[in-house]
Amino acid sequence: MGFCVAIDGPAAAGKGTVSKAVATHFGFAHLDTGLLYRAVGAKVLSGMEPAAAAQALVPTDLTARDLRTPEVAQAASRVAVVPEVRAALVQFQQDFAARDGGAVLDGRDIGTVICPTAEAKLYVTASADVRAKRRFDELLAKGMDVTLVDVLADVQARDTRDRERVEAPLVAAVDAVVIDTSDLSIDAAVAAAIAAIEEVRA
Ligand code: DC
Repeated sequence: MGFCVAIDGPAAAGKGTVSKAVATHFGFAHLDTGLLYRAVGAKVLSGMEPAAAAQALVPTDLTARDLRTPEVAQAASRVAVVPEVRAALVQFQQDFAARDGGAVLDGRDIGTVICPTAEAKLYVTASADVRAKRRFDELLAKGMDVTLVDVLADVQARDTRDRERVEAPLVAAVDAVVIDTSDLSIDAAVAAAIAAIEEVRA
């Protein structure tokens, strides 16, 4: 039997960390759907058209290069407004969500568009300042030459684009449990997510 956990929220809110921990805890498979958009964005940076890039996506595109750079993140957010790009990625995500043994998908539109009937929906968020600081620390740890001001501007630009687009905008599903991680440790955020999911599994 499938069991789908949909986890949405803005950039750098802690979705990835929470999703991985939840998947491990319940023994579910995990898909970071942002990686799909990042892979399309990276292809567009190399000169492809967005729709063609999405339609030609293959699994190795997700690992072929470092997709976790600010440049690729912006490109992902830009291609994500293109309806043909989103349409090309729907089936793969829905097949993943329906797999036996359970699945956790994190992104922007999982609880609203990809899995509107998900058994559990979470919306993981945090203030823009906190999210920028976390992303800044991550990028610094990877040895990247970034400033906090630039990372905050990057996060805010993506927030605005992701929230204001016409197709599948970032918004909490009405039935999502909201977890604000601004003042939570990783352990506390993970515990809150697991508790919310256990409630619907009971
Ligand atoms: O989760 P992330 O930061 O890796 O996502 C990168 C971009 O991809 C994000 O700014 C918007 C887009 N995205 C989307 O539109 N829908 C998703 N389900 C996941 C990501």
